[in-house]
Amino acid sequence: MTRALRVHMLPQLVEPADLRGRTVVVIDVLRATTTIAYALANGATSVVPCLEIDEARATARQLGSGVVLGGERRGLRIEGFDLGNSPSEYTRAAVEERTVVFTTTNGTRAMRHAAAADAILIGSFANLSAVVAALANCERADLLCAGTNGAVTAEDTLFAGAVAHRLGSDEWGMENDQAFLARDAWRAFLADGGPLSATLRACQGGKNLIAEGFDADIDTAAQIDALSLVPRLNVGTGRIAVR
Ligand code: MLT
Repeated sequence: MTRALRVHMLPQLVEPADLRGRTVVVIDVLRATTTIAYALANGATSVVPCLEIDEARATARQLGSGVVLGGERRGLRIEGFDLGNSPSEYTRAAVEERTVVFTTTNGTRAMRHAAAADAILIGSFANLSAVVAALANCERADLLCAGTNGAVTAEDTLFAGAVAHRLGSDEWGMENDQAFLARDAWRAFLADGGPLSATLRACQGGKNLIAEGFDADIDTAAQIDALSLVPRLNVGTGRIAVR
């Protein structure tokens, strides 16, 4: 049976209800989904994604001790928060056995957009192969790019294309044109020879990070398969964890 794959280059390009019954991979390579993978790899018990700063503060208060408050606005750590949105901040010392309450401009918003899905996975180049393997048993998958403030981003589209390319066309049918476009963008990148870090630096999101002093985060985000876990968002509990 042919499996069906769709790519959405922005959340605005798919109705939330249209994700019902599907497995959705949420993608915000620079940097939310990369950072969440590192937080969980370094022992955070779970990550609680929040839309708004006030919601994050209230959630942290409600959860009490053992909570780390993290995230960004305009790329920078939010006043009063423990951590920003750099994967390198989410060390074992900072997050092990703690709950991370997390809000970012676009990434956590995309996660909420996927709430109707059957399963929600968190994808980035850091866990590319693990995400591809996790899709092996599903029949209808959607790769949902967070983008930046309503604009399509090359880094998220490239990651979606990498997943589409790895899944292959023998078993998987491309169900929308964005899937073809993303896969072809990744194939063009492969033909070009990389490195991925240089491509991410040339993207608008990469340029923004360099301007903000977060150049090192781009190298981290470009390390394909540095991690082998697949974070999953459980809509019932509101928590992202590895199981
Ligand atoms: C976001 O969610 O908008 C991004 O992760 C922003 C950032 O890189 O800080």
